[in-house]
Formats: sequence, structure tokens, C-alpha cells
Amino acid sequence: MCGIVAYLGKKPAQPILIEGLKRLEYRGYDSAGVGLMNNGVIKITKSSGRISVLEELLEPINQAEVLGIGHTRWATHGEPNTINAHPHLDYTGKIAVVHNGIIENYSTLKTWLISEGCKFSSQTDTEVISNLIGYLYAGHNEKGTPTTGQNRFEWAVQRALNELVGTYGLAIVCADFPDMLIGAKKGSPLILGLGENEYIIASDASAIVEHTTQAIYMADNEMVICTSKGFHTKTIDNVEIRKDLKQIEFSLDAIELNGFQHYMLKEICEQPKALNMCLGGRLDHRDGRIVLGGLDKYWREITRAKRIIINACGTAWHAGLVGEFLLENLARINTETEYASEFRYRNPIIDDGTVVIAVSQSGETADTLAAVEQAKERGAIVLGIVNVVGSTIARTTDAGVYLRVGPEIGVASTKAFTAQVAVLAMLAIELGRRKHLGHDVAKFYIDELAKIPAKIEKVLTQSEQIKEIAAATCERENWLFLGRGFNYPVALEGALKLKEISYIHAEGLPAAEMKHGPIALINKGMPAVFIATKCSQYEKIIGNIEEVRARGGRTIVVATEGDENIGKYADFLITVPPAPEELQPLLTVVPLQILAYHAAVLRGHDVDKPRNLAKSVTVE
Ligand code: M6R
Repeated sequence: MCGIVAYLGKKPAQPILIEGLKRLEYRGYDSAGVGLMNNGVIKITKSSGRISVLEELLEPINQAEVLGIGHTRWATHGEPNTINAHPHLDYTGKIAVVHNGIIENYSTLKTWLISEGCKFSSQTDTEVISNLIGYLYAGHNEKGTPTTGQNRFEWAVQRALNELVGTYGLAIVCADFPDMLIGAKKGSPLILGLGENEYIIASDASAIVEHTTQAIYMADNEMVICTSKGFHTKTIDNVEIRKDLKQIEFSLDAIELNGFQHYMLKEICEQPKALNMCLGGRLDHRDGRIVLGGLDKYWREITRAKRIIINACGTAWHAGLVGEFLLENLARINTETEYASEFRYRNPIIDDGTVVIAVSQSGETADTLAAVEQAKERGAIVLGIVNVVGSTIARTTDAGVYLRVGPEIGVASTKAFTAQVAVLAMLAIELGRRKHLGHDVAKFYIDELAKIPAKIEKVLTQSEQIKEIAAATCERENWLFLGRGFNYPVALEGALKLKEISYIHAEGLPAAEMKHGPIALINKGMPAVFIATKCSQYEKIIGNIEEVRARGGRTIVVATEGDENIGKYADFLITVPPAPEELQPLLTVVPLQILAYHAAVLRGHDVDKPRNLAKSVTVE
């Protein structure tokens, strides 16, 4: 949530910040701002609304403004208006801060700073950071002074950071040091891009990759101080540290729209290619085994696990639920899927035989990260199934598997879901092979998994037909999504997709549960989406479809290609190629993604920037 970007170099900072903010806009987009260093004065421009609104307010590019900070906001404290937009200047006008995260003790700090004479103008927690740094910088430091030779601005930042409780990714400038940019991280992501004579600090690599692929991933409680002469990194306890230089692994092309109207549509259509990247080199057809190098050191423990706990949120939780069914079915390991936000506050039983798996596209989701930390504290082996390379969850877990599907920019997660399911399927097949499945069965699933990308390609060809279904139904405000067995999590995911981008109320349910209450909702014409593919519960779900039709519901049925029987139960029919039931979610979710996409576009919504949402939920 919130994106920050900052630049120090030889080029004018303004266009680099604006371009960077546009790339980060998916992280939050209710207000935005930039601060540019101009002759020892920090020039702030901010506005509510999108970056495009901010752009209109900016003065012409000034070649001499080579240092600046920028922010795109997802509001936590204080409504999304211009005053609350970042950067926040301190009461002296010398310190400016952009912040991603939440300062939990801001209220105490604010009360104290006010009593000391500091003026506040916003309702944000961030303003305590600029004011605290400003207060210390101005010399009101009750606890010591900079050590000899230490820059006073750097010292004041470091001292202030030690007073903050909560999370932050920060970029900070001081009017007295027009050649210095400071970044700091705790709990929110922060990357330093190293170009030729230039530095870019950003919340994620998408704002950096256009300028350089050389980066340093900052860790918690670290800060970086950049000047035109070089940079150094240290802990907030003032211990100098050396950080490894990493290569940003994706190209600019991967984060461009490439002719698509929206990132969501691009990412839906990318799924065959993305899954091929995810599966590539990992399916050993000849020996009937799966190769997941990241888990090499842990196979013994995972194979012996008595219990697996999957932790995730949102779409990743739905993928986790498919994973639960896969692990139970193929590996015969007792598995539970937990909402990370609940797990972290319970007193979970984790014993020697428990393995915890965190599933997260971003690798930054605050609740999932907290669940990982909690499980580690209790001695569990914790594995990560993560997309973003070098993300906090990827670094905090003991081992893991990357999704390898490239950046997912659309706020509504699509290709990450199919890749998460694919990785969980690979894990289940390999564990099953190591335990009891036998070569032939493992090989069967491996061969079938390899066929999925081409089958998704076939599903995608129905996009226009699905658009017509969306056009005929999208004015209805209440929908049901119903599935059984492996397709029950897909029903949940279909409902979530529709809710988050079209703002239609949708409920996903196991189809048999409908009779226990939700059937009361059905009225004439209510859309009910059924996933009724050929599977062990096929006859049962036909019964559920009949129950809805008998009450006037309008059925949209996702069925198996070649099923001659199903047409009579469907007001609208969508087909997917046949596949083993365990792997069907990889296919059946795709038409539901497309349906949600078209419904949202037809209702006139900005699909990539849905109301109230942000891509990575890095706050509780
Ligand atoms: O980055 P993560 O996979 O940890 O994110 C988890 C959820 O916040 C995410 O899946 C969210 O539900 C998406 N908006 C769903 O489309």
C-alpha cells in the first residue's frame, strides 16, 4: 500500500518521479505528491486523486532539480485529500518525508511534539516522522548529539527512527543538504536502484527497472544515505553494513501494457505463457518426478510432515485451499488453510511434525508475513510460495518456490492464482511420489499438468462469448458462485474477482451449502455461476443447478467441453477442456476471471484501480 519513489542524480528528478509513481500507482491511488529540491528549498506539489491530476499541477521541468521524492497514497490515517497527501514537510520547512507503512505510536509522539511547540497540519501518522526529524535536527535533542564527523541530518533521521513503533519505507530529504537522500526500511519494502551517477529509492523494482537493473534490497531496521559522491548503508543503530548488489530480474517490457487496455486483461491472457514459465524445468516426465530446487534441503522434513498449515490472504488463500485438497488427496498429508490474519492472533498448535507454507504473490502482505514470523518463532519449518523475488516473505521463510510469472500489476490477482495452484500441485505430486503414489500415477499428473497452458489458451478464445454473458447479466447486483470439491475454492475466487472490480455483491459457496440458507437469496433472474465440470460430484452439482433454476435463478455454467447433457441446465454455457479433477481449478478459474473483467468494464469501472483497494496489503 502506498508507493514511494525518490531520485538523486544528474538528470531532472521530476519526470523520473512521475514515471516512477505511475508504475507504482497500483499500490495506492487516492492522492499523490512530489517534493523537489530547488536551490535549498523543498518545493512540494500534491493533490488528491490520481497521478494524472498531480501532473497537471506541476511546474515545467527544471533541469537543476536533480533531487526529489514522490508518493502515491492508499489512505490509512486521514482522508485522501491534498493536505494528507505526501510529501510531509516538518514544522520548520526543512525536512520532507514520503512514507509507506503505519506509525503505531504516532498519537503519543504527536501529543509530545505539539507540547514542544511543533505545528501539525495533517491528520496523518507520517507527519510525526518529519516533525520528529525536524525537531531533532533543529537541536532539540535531549539525548546526545551527532558523533564527531556525523552529518546532522543523517543523525537526526537515525535518532528519530529509533523512536518509531510500526512500519515504514521512507525517503527523506533536508533543505540544508541539496545533495543528500536518505532511505529507511522497517516492515515495508524498500529498494535502492544504482544507476550511473544516480540513485533511485522505491517501494518496488517497477519504478527502478527503466533506469537500472542493479539494486540493493534493504532489510528491516536499515537505512541508506546517498550523496553525489557515493552511498553507504547502516543499521538504525549506526552500525555500517555492506549489502549485496542484486540484479532486477524482469525487463521493462514485463510491466508495460503491450497493447492491452488493462493489466488485468493482459495478465489473464498471459496465463499460458506464465504457467509455462512456472512449470518450466520443473516437470521431469521421464522419471515421473518434480524438480523444485528451492526445497532440496527440506524434502526429508516435508515428506515426514504430519500436518501442513497453509497461510495466505485473499486470492492466495483460495489457491491455498486448492492446495489443501491437493495435498490431502495426492500426498495424504493432513492440511489446513488458514487466513493469516486470524492465524497470527491465535495460539496455534505447532509441533515437530508441522510444516507451514506461506502463499503470497507480493511477498509483502503484512498478515502473511506476521504468520510466517509467528510460525518460525514456534519452531516450524516455514516455506514460501511467492512471486516477487527478494520480497520480505521470500527472505524470511526457510525455503521456498518462486512462481516465476513476472510482475503482476493488476490489483485483481489472476496469473498469480493459477501459478500458486500449479506450484501447490507440483508440491503435492512430488510429496505423493515420495510417499505412496508410484511412478505411473505421478507421471500421469505431471503429463497432465504440462498440458494445462495449451488448454488455458483454448479457454481464452471464448472471451467474446463471455463478454456477451457479462453484458446480459452485469446489471444484477447480487450473484452466487457455486462449486463442489476442487471447484469450490474456484467459486470463492470467482466471487472475489467479481466483487473487487465490478462492485457487484457476490457470494462463493460450496454448492451443497446453498440449501442451508443462501438459497433464500435466489429470486427471479439472479445470476448463479456453477462450476459443473466432469468430476466425481458431477451428478450432485446438476442437482444443485436444478434447485436454483426451480427458483427462477439464471445459470451461468462452466462445463467440460463435449458434455452434451449440460446444455439444458444452462442459461449461459462456457466450456473448458477436460482435465483430471485435481487440476481443473487451473482451467475453471479462467472464464470467471474473464467474466469479472468484462462485467467491470461494462459497468464503467477502472479495472486496474478498483475502489478502496491496493495491490499489496502491507498494513494490518
Ligand atoms: O500479495 P498477496 O498474494 O499476499 O496478496 C493477498 C491478497 O491481498 C490478494 O490476493 C488480494 O485478495 C487480491 N486483490 C485479490 O485479487
